[in-house]
Amino acid sequence: MTLESRCLVPARRYALVLVDLSVGFTDPSRSRLAAPCDGVIAANQRLLAHFRAHRDPVFFTTVMYDAPEQSRVFREKLPALDDLAAGSPLVEIDERVVPLPSEAVIVKRAASGFFGTDLAERLRKAGVDGVVGLGGGSSMDTAKLVALLVGTDQRLPDIYGIGLAKGPRLPLVQVPTTAGTGSEVTPIAIVTTPTHEKKGVVSSLLYPDLAILDGLLTLGLPPRITAMTAIDAMVHAIEAYTTKHKKNPISDGLALKAMQLLWGNLRTVIADGGNAEARAALLQGAALAGMAFANAPVAAVHALAYPIGGHFHVPHGLSNALVLVPVMEFNMEAAGHLYGEIAAAILPGKSRGEDLLDAMRGLVADMPMEQRLSEVGIKESDLDLLADDAMKVTRLLVNNPREVTRADARAIYASVL
Ligand SMILES: [Fe+2]
Repeated sequence: MTLESRCLVPARRYALVLVDLSVGFTDPSRSRLAAPCDGVIAANQRLLAHFRAHRDPVFFTTVMYDAPEQSRVFREKLPALDDLAAGSPLVEIDERVVPLPSEAVIVKRAASGFFGTDLAERLRKAGVDGVVGLGGGSSMDTAKLVALLVGTDQRLPDIYGIGLAKGPRLPLVQVPTTAGTGSEVTPIAIVTTPTHEKKGVVSSLLYPDLAILDGLLTLGLPPRITAMTAIDAMVHAIEAYTTKHKKNPISDGLALKAMQLLWGNLRTVIADGGNAEARAALLQGAALAGMAFANAPVAAVHALAYPIGGHFHVPHGLSNALVLVPVMEFNMEAAGHLYGEIAAAILPGKSRGEDLLDAMRGLVADMPMEQRLSEVGIKESDLDLLADDAMKVTRLLVNNPREVTRADARAIYASVL
């Protein structure tokens, strides 16, 4: 599919929303930024060339940094930004440095009305009539909300929940640079509120007009980020397949195919990040998993992961990976037969629920990322807070195959402390 899709024809001025380019870069002393930027640079240049050739666009580029060191590395790595600034009628480079990790950047912007008034208003004044989201989940979720809020007088706090957005929204193109979130094909945008809760805007208006899956954009992604984002995608597929509500044959098919692609290629990509074929398969698997959970919702893994991300600024995929195995153990008595069906789809000769549990336990343990809550700064004294907040995520807990009490949630956290 190309950018000449019919959905783009009416729009001539596109806002390119680049947020959170560091994708999980939480420690400025570790130079993880260089690699993901390579893919983003390539995408940036290709999109720029395309729009210059075909659309005479206005670009509005928002770049957010987590730390001064990131800012410096980013400027060195991305001269294309300066080209963009020189060649476009309107470019805004937002270099406000905030001492917060990537997902919390969204908190600040949302808390300050950045989406609701500032950015949306500025784009409206610029006459932008389309939005391109390029990046990981935070970037694409931001692009969704920007495309929505520019075209409506509703404010962000008014549309948290299901089906409250009225629209209209601007044309929206999504270009993922990580294989995990599936945000490019889902009707959901997640925002961290000023009270450190993760809230969702769910609306069919948030489906993009076009999603471009280009595995080459993920080539430079470091192993740690590749691992955590891919595990997130696998959680989407597993939770969609085992959800108590809205499970259906279409989401089942999407989830099983997603698991085949993700399971079949993740270790390959971790061993050889330059394997373009396996990278493309991961990206397709992540999109299929996104489509699966857009049709059959996720459950307790995500419900327990959100407080970890909200309070401790742990990337979404890692939050999920930390609690995946203990939640599966907890769910085994209710969902073991469904885990067995997934096992049969990805593990030759295996069909028991325990087979999938063993496989996921081994996979998570082999991934180059943190394995325990204590490794991301969580202490025993934090577990009550996490359990309290997990119980607030009723939107997802109701989907879990086994009822989760507060004591259950606390025990699950404690088991991976
Ligand atoms: Fe997720």
